[in-house]
Amino acid sequence: MNSENFKIVGVTRNIVTIEILDSTQFTGQFNIGSYIKIPYQCDSENYIIGIIKNYRIKNIDSPIPESTISQPNFVIEVELIGSYKKYDNKYLFERGAHGIPLPPNNGIEILNDDDYCNIYSCKIEDKEMFTFSNLIQDENIRVPVNGNKFFNKHFAIVGSTGSGKSHTVATVLQQAIKEKNVGYDGLNNSHIVIFDIHGEYVKAFPIANHINSNNIKIPYWLFDSDELSDLFIESNEQNSHNQVSQFRYAVTENKKKEDLLNKAESKTPQDRIYFDTPLKFNIDEIINYIKNMNNELINKKKNRIPTSKTGEEILNRIPKYFEQVIEFDKINSDLVNGPFTGDFERFILRLETIRNNPRLKFLFDDAYTLSLEDILKQFLGYNSNNSNVTVIDLSGIPFEVLSITVSLISRILFEFGYYYKKILAENIDCETPLLLVYEEAHKYVPRSELVKYRASKNAIERIAKEGRKYGVTLGIVSQRPSEISETIFSQCNNFIAMRLTNPDDQNYVKRLLPDSLGDLTDYLPTLQAGEALLIGESIIIPSLVKIDFPVNEPKSTDIKYLDLWKEQWKNVNFENITKEWKK
Ligand SMILES: Nc1ncnc2c1ncn2[C@@H]1O[C@H](COP(=O)(O)OP(=O)(O)O)[C@@H](O)[C@H]1O
Ligand SMILES: [Mg+2]
Repeated sequence: MNSENFKIVGVTRNIVTIEILDSTQFTGQFNIGSYIKIPYQCDSENYIIGIIKNYRIKNIDSPIPESTISQPNFVIEVELIGSYKKYDNKYLFERGAHGIPLPPNNGIEILNDDDYCNIYSCKIEDKEMFTFSNLIQDENIRVPVNGNKFFNKHFAIVGSTGSGKSHTVATVLQQAIKEKNVGYDGLNNSHIVIFDIHGEYVKAFPIANHINSNNIKIPYWLFDSDELSDLFIESNEQNSHNQVSQFRYAVTENKKKEDLLNKAESKTPQDRIYFDTPLKFNIDEIINYIKNMNNELINKKKNRIPTSKTGEEILNRIPKYFEQVIEFDKINSDLVNGPFTGDFERFILRLETIRNNPRLKFLFDDAYTLSLEDILKQFLGYNSNNSNVTVIDLSGIPFEVLSITVSLISRILFEFGYYYKKILAENIDCETPLLLVYEEAHKYVPRSELVKYRASKNAIERIAKEGRKYGVTLGIVSQRPSEISETIFSQCNNFIAMRLTNPDDQNYVKRLLPDSLGDLTDYLPTLQAGEALLIGESIIIPSLVKIDFPVNEPKSTDIKYLDLWKEQWKNVNFENITKEWKK
């Protein structure tokens, strides 16, 4: 558009109102939905691209001079969608645009850089400053947050796919592991665990503690009641309460028995051993027990004592039922069914299927040689090479155990914080603050009440509610904030809201802002990749910022289809693929 033909008469965050002065220049070209380019007022080389939302004829009620009747002035409203700027003599289009800068007026001053710096940093002490972004309106201004306030309460990073969440996670954490007091070399004391569902972060943290489905160590005996039920019990089965009660009883008794036998480790008093005490139990003995309960015959005339095929009277079910599968046979008419005879056919089938499923080997192999200490060190990066960051690549973990895997790890890291505090002096809460980052958090802590999410939801909600006291905080990353459990979000104090296109999600973020600033969320749909609205206790005013680009980028999850398709036909090694499949 040529600037003599139009006049900008109003600008809001994402709408520019333009009066068309000489409509003859545009006849036939304007339609609702047409794209137009508008030059920045002080800069005729760069443009903003917008789409016409509506138009009206100006001053329809005022007397119209004869000469203009045939060519009325139009006022059009244009929604901004992107910028069209010249870089190295080439125009580039980028999504997102932020209104049109006005030339400064006399008497009114635009804040200068010093003012901005002062506003952002006046309330933060130097040693608490933590910086990972610049102000969008003025790229020279660094925007610090209060690092203590940012990390010691839970934070959330939300935005549609491609808005830059993963890059932001990488930037923020790379910065955190770099921060150091003077006077020492080597690692700082940051402790970060990333639950990486797409396998993106090994690339962003090349020297970190990398855990994946091939090397993860999760012994089944560490699962708690929710997790074990999730794994073994079909909750919609008619007699599932019997399954639960017998299973719990067997596991508790087996833990007591195993702890007595165990010479190396310190013993837990027998009356303090419960179903959830993190002690070892033997899954094969539990299966024996359930099979025996399913088969047993008892003598109705003799105190209901179970009696085997050989006539042996089994006075003490425990530990006999653990040791082996006993054969029962109706050797005389006094023998009748026990309380659960025949009830557990399907339960046994499921127990055995899971026990022997090669994809779940990592739960059972080596389980007995691992100690609780080994497991904690594994997830906290206390290995031969200590690491600030542990990346748990969950992409290879079978779907059916994903929720309980996340649940178990989250839970034991929370309990680590809890018991660690207990051994510290009264006035110290924590020596090693821990941050747990959940990518695609709506997959583990959704609003949904479905049983399959129960374990991970309980574990993470508990950290949301109580974790701070023990130095365990959450970083929640999600493209669907409106689908995340309310409990989690209500506990987050800092938000990095990136481009959000879904109105439900925008409203969700809007509710977090004070009324006077609520319409800052109008920006959300027009933000460019890497741009964000920073809100929360750690920053003096909610601000629109551009997040720094990470030093090492997370891996892109996009497969370059066309690039790959353009290459020459590739031969496929089907044998290796199917071998992997069957492993
Ligand atoms: N701070 C940034 N500055 C510039 N570009 C960015 C920034 N963050 C992300 N991007 C670009 O946006 C794209 C999507 O980023 P990504 O982090 O994968 O988004 P998400 O995790 O939200 O899907 C990346 O290809 C990246 O190049
Ligand atoms: Mg991502």
